[in-house]
Order: sequence, then structure tokens, then C-alpha cells
Amino acid sequence: MASVRARSRYRPRRVRLRDGREVTLREIEEGDASEIVAAFERLSAESRYSRFMQHKKQLDAGALERGVHPRPGLDYVLVATIPALDGIDIVGAVQYVRAQAGDDRVCEFAVTIAEDWRGNGLATALMSRLLRRARRDGYETIEGWVLASNTPMLALARELRFSADPVPDEADVVRVRRELQDGPRRSRTR
Ligand SMILES: CC(C)(COP(=O)(O)OP(=O)(O)OC[C@H]1O[C@@H](n2cnc3c(N)ncnc32)[C@H](O)[C@@H]1OP(=O)(O)O)[C@@H](O)C(=O)NCCC(=O)NCCS
Repeated sequence: MASVRARSRYRPRRVRLRDGREVTLREIEEGDASEIVAAFERLSAESRYSRFMQHKKQLDAGALERGVHPRPGLDYVLVATIPALDGIDIVGAVQYVRAQAGDDRVCEFAVTIAEDWRGNGLATALMSRLLRRARRDGYETIEGWVLASNTPMLALARELRFSADPVPDEADVVRVRRELQDGPRRSRTR
């Protein structure tokens, strides 16, 4: 069962990506809601479909509200930010939530990187930290659902030692899953 012990906060830190650009990784804050919406609006229709497995024109209010108020010890959201004229832009986000299927040892993840920031190890950096936190929160397994055509996500999952299995009656979806007892293999950023 996911533990209910008090959680330590993730200390914000700067990370240099492979192309030399820097981002700040930190936990999500309530005030990030408008930047999450802006980041969603900057995504292409294809990226939105890859992430949500449906054609989404806007984020639903409930999901946004839950996203900026993760339940301590159960849900977790990390964002990657860069400075912007109006404050910050969010260029990457990764989250887990307790699995809806009722098994409290399992959490479900999702990850999105802004198109201009891909191919630099940012998803790997965020996912590595997410896996560590999920383990510390007491989860035994992390899983996610990915379009079978989503080559980048499936390759990333393979790199992070997730297994990939077909989903019965859903030929276009793959379930990726990883036990959390051992550590993520690597993080490509300092
Ligand atoms: C999938 C996604 C998160 C990857 O983000 P990223 O920051 O580019 O990933 P990384 O740079 O950390 O790449 C890690 C590994 O993933 C694989 N990968 C990433 N992009 C790839 C691509 N376009 N083609 C093939 N493999 C790719 C590679 O194995 C890569 O390792 P390498 O750099 O040593 O080759 C990003 O493409 C994205 O946000 N897609 C849209 C949203 C989505 O599909 N989310 C998944 C559903 S939960």
C-alpha cells in the first residue's frame, strides 16, 4: 500500500540538457495552472493525441484542478520550467496518480515534453526522478498506456526497463509496466 508518511519536498534544481540548454525541475504548484494550459495549447494536435489517446481541444477543468493539487503520498507531478517574459514557461511535465483500478500498490504515469525540447534527455530526467519518488511513496508498480504507434514513448519506456504488453481488445494500445524495487537504469543529465 502507498505509505502515508510525511513527504519531503523535491528541492528545485537546474539541469543541463544534452544540447546545453538548462531547465529547472520542481514540483508543481497551485499557481502553475495557467502555465499548464498554455503549455497544452502550444502542443500540436498529434502530441495531444499521443498524450491523451484522444483528440483534445482543451484540458478539462477537473483534470487540471487535480493536476495542480496532487494528493500527498498518492499523486506526484514534476515540471520542467524555463524563464519567460511573464515569469516561466513549462516545457515538460511528468506525473503519477494512484491507479484507478483499486490496487493501491500501483500508480499510473504520464509524461509530456514540449516539441522544441524533445530529444535532449528531458523525459528521461523527469521519469527517473518520478520512478524514485513513486518507490519512496510505497508503490510497487508503475504503469501507463501508450499508443502502439508512439515509437518515442515506447523507446523511452524500454530504456527505463519497462515491459510492454498488448492490451486485450485494444490493438492500438500497449501497456507499459515496471516494478519499482530496483532503481532506474540511468539519467542522462547531471
Ligand atoms: C515521448 C516523449 C515524452 C519523449 O520525450 P524526450 O524528452 O524527447 O525523450 P528523451 O530525450 O529523454 O529520450 C529518451 C529515449 O527515448 C527514445 N526516443 C525519444 N524520442 C524518440 C524518437 N523521436 N524516435 C525514437 N526514439 C525516441 C530514445 O530511445 C531516447 O534515447 P536516446 O536519446 O539515447 O536515443 C515526447 O516525445 C513526448 O512528449 N511525446 C508526446 C506525449 C506522449 O506521447 N506522452 C506519452 C504518453 S504518456
